[in-house]
Amino acid sequence: MTAPLMSLTWTDHLTGRQGFLVVDRLVRGVSSGGLRMRAGCTLEEVTGLARGMTMKEALHYNPEGRYVPLGGAKGGIDCDPRDPGAYGLLVRYLRAMRPYIESMWTTGEDLGLTQDLVDRAAAEAGLVSSVQAVYPLLDDEAAARRRLADAFAVEVDGIGLDELVGGCGVAESALAALDRAGVPYAGTRVAVQGLGTMGGATARFLTRAGLTVVAVADIKGTIADPAGLDVEALLAARDAYGTVDRSALRPEDRELPGEAWLSADAEVLVPAAVSYAIDTSNQERIGARWIVEAANMPILPEAEELLAARGVTVLPDVVVNSGTNAWWWWTLFGDIGADAEAAFAHTRSSMRALVEQMLARAETDGTTPRAAAHALVADRLPVIAERFGWYR
Ligand SMILES: NC(=O)c1ccc[n+]([C@@H]2O[C@H](COP(=O)([O-])OP(=O)(O)OC[C@H]3O[C@@H](n4cnc5c(N)ncnc54)[C@H](O)[C@@H]3O)[C@@H](O)[C@H]2O)c1
Repeated sequence: MTAPLMSLTWTDHLTGRQGFLVVDRLVRGVSSGGLRMRAGCTLEEVTGLARGMTMKEALHYNPEGRYVPLGGAKGGIDCDPRDPGAYGLLVRYLRAMRPYIESMWTTGEDLGLTQDLVDRAAAEAGLVSSVQAVYPLLDDEAAARRRLADAFAVEVDGIGLDELVGGCGVAESALAALDRAGVPYAGTRVAVQGLGTMGGATARFLTRAGLTVVAVADIKGTIADPAGLDVEALLAARDAYGTVDRSALRPEDRELPGEAWLSADAEVLVPAAVSYAIDTSNQERIGARWIVEAANMPILPEAEELLAARGVTVLPDVVVNSGTNAWWWWTLFGDIGADAEAAFAHTRSSMRALVEQMLARAETDGTTPRAAAHALVADRLPVIAERFGWYR
């Protein structure tokens, strides 16, 4: 694997805490990748995530689309987002990264951060926008920025469109896999780890498609009901970090330990919280047939091998959770307008096509879906480089 184009570690002069930026690759001089904040975040983790972003961008390459892929990047800050000093640290990190954000790195919310917080901190750090590096590539910058701002203002049943499209893509990936296997939605049970942006929206879309969410875990533990949780009530009871207020639970909802979501009686597991949640020892507890990776890198490679050996299909992060990133660009470049129905329709058709391609390729090659996704990327990267040139 080639080394990333750029990799840097920043140390905060006030607290000694560290932040990272990895630009894996540039296309037309620009890269895309969110910013995460979590205690224990490492350069290695950010490097893997930046590579994943290169793959997500390449997978959504559509030669007829207005949006053409960017390179991949990722930022990370080693701090608990609930730390009272977290916001000041975020502003100082963004100020230090300003030259990169102005020229080559477009970013947005990821684990531990909301887009509102990133926007506020970016303004305080003197930036025009967290995605300003892409502006020179737009035909009509003013109209594009208006369209994106309008799209961010759209809400559907109490949740912002920007917080829904990612989960819409995760849910559609799961549904495409069920359809391929001929499994009906009704009666199919789901357990989710994380009820933040990704997990929350995935739970909503899967419930609305007719599946039953039987367990959700947040940082405080697992909430379960084998007969089905009231997902909308749980979504409404979340704080800004995706923690559910337990006083909103119904008498039939059970509170279980943090890892209980893994062994819930469910056909579909959706890890939508932290990286490395599933390892070689706890994978044994999984009885599900599909694991749909809403989170980035939730399964350690050795655990995935064991899961594959016993017939558990993992739908990989690079495909499954790529919807949010693609939606930003579809909207900004003008493939879709500031409209929820258009956004969901485009997300669904793109994700379904991608998942079907990946599963067909896996079947032909006799590999895992992840290996098939990597093979699709390997086919596409030279095509993109051929059209836009090499930037590394
Ligand atoms: N937000 C996005 O647009 C986006 C896009 C693609 C991928 N992702 C990935 O999805 C994952 C979740 O991101 P998000 O933005 O939804 O995060 P978020 O901060 O909105 O929510 C995180 C959720 O996980 C829970 N959680 C945190 N630590 C936990 C633990 N140890 N055990 C159980 N639950 C825990 C939190 O309580 C919360 O419910 C991350 O891996 C992120 O990289 C996010």
